[in-house]
Amino acid sequence: MQKIRLDRLLSNSGVGSRKEVKAIIKKEEVTVDGNIVKNPGQLIDPTRSQVMVNSRPILYKKYYYLMLNKPPGVISATKDTLHHTVTDLLPEQYKNIRLFPVGRLDKDTEGLLILTNDGQLAHSLLSPKKRVPKTYYAVIEGLVSSEDKEAFRRGVRLDDDLISLSAQLSILESSQLSKVHVTIFEGKYHQVKRMFKTVGKKVVYLKRIRMGNLYLDESLPLGEVRELSQAELALLDMSNKDDISKDDTGQ
Ligand code: URA
Repeated sequence: MQKIRLDRLLSNSGVGSRKEVKAIIKKEEVTVDGNIVKNPGQLIDPTRSQVMVNSRPILYKKYYYLMLNKPPGVISATKDTLHHTVTDLLPEQYKNIRLFPVGRLDKDTEGLLILTNDGQLAHSLLSPKKRVPKTYYAVIEGLVSSEDKEAFRRGVRLDDDLISLSAQLSILESSQLSKVHVTIFEGKYHQVKRMFKTVGKKVVYLKRIRMGNLYLDESLPLGEVRELSQAELALLDMSNKDDISKDDTGQ
């Protein structure tokens, strides 16, 4: 395993910010394999050395994978001068890890958002070539019809003249406030809202419930995060999924 700086290892393990861990090291509270280490830049192989802070063993993890049930009112970014962001919602132990959201949900959209520091996973989930399915539960103003379903299946012309890929629309309830599930295989800006706009309808509530084969844990309260289990992480593994060409799917 690659060696990493002691201060980075400690801050990535949730011990504190870089500044805080440097102070802890200076106070001689950190040992590596039983010896006090005073140099924050000392290179450590976390798989071979035991690092302790005040005799408490530190478990180092290179990558973190969190599921957030995004509430409305926060933006899918790491920093913003005007708005609260999804990283503001993170518990203290994750604040010093450079986690970022995998893709974006609109400010008013709720539901499944993955936060990670694994750029490769993010890339494979977001690559347009992988056509990773994303399913949303939506409430729509007006009656959603089988014609809409067919239009989504064929692909609709969005307001910037792009044609969306074939999407799956299933109508859970058709009424003045219709309830639907919609699965898209791309992630254009405001995509679901714009698709409904094309068929003359307005999305009044939107929640993502699935990304790849991973579903939102409905028992996770809005605004809360938890780490993915190994089994859930395996559901996100897109590395074996070949890039799908248009012809393969008939889309
Ligand atoms: N489509 C939208 O319109 N908004 C989202 O947040 C996600 C998909």
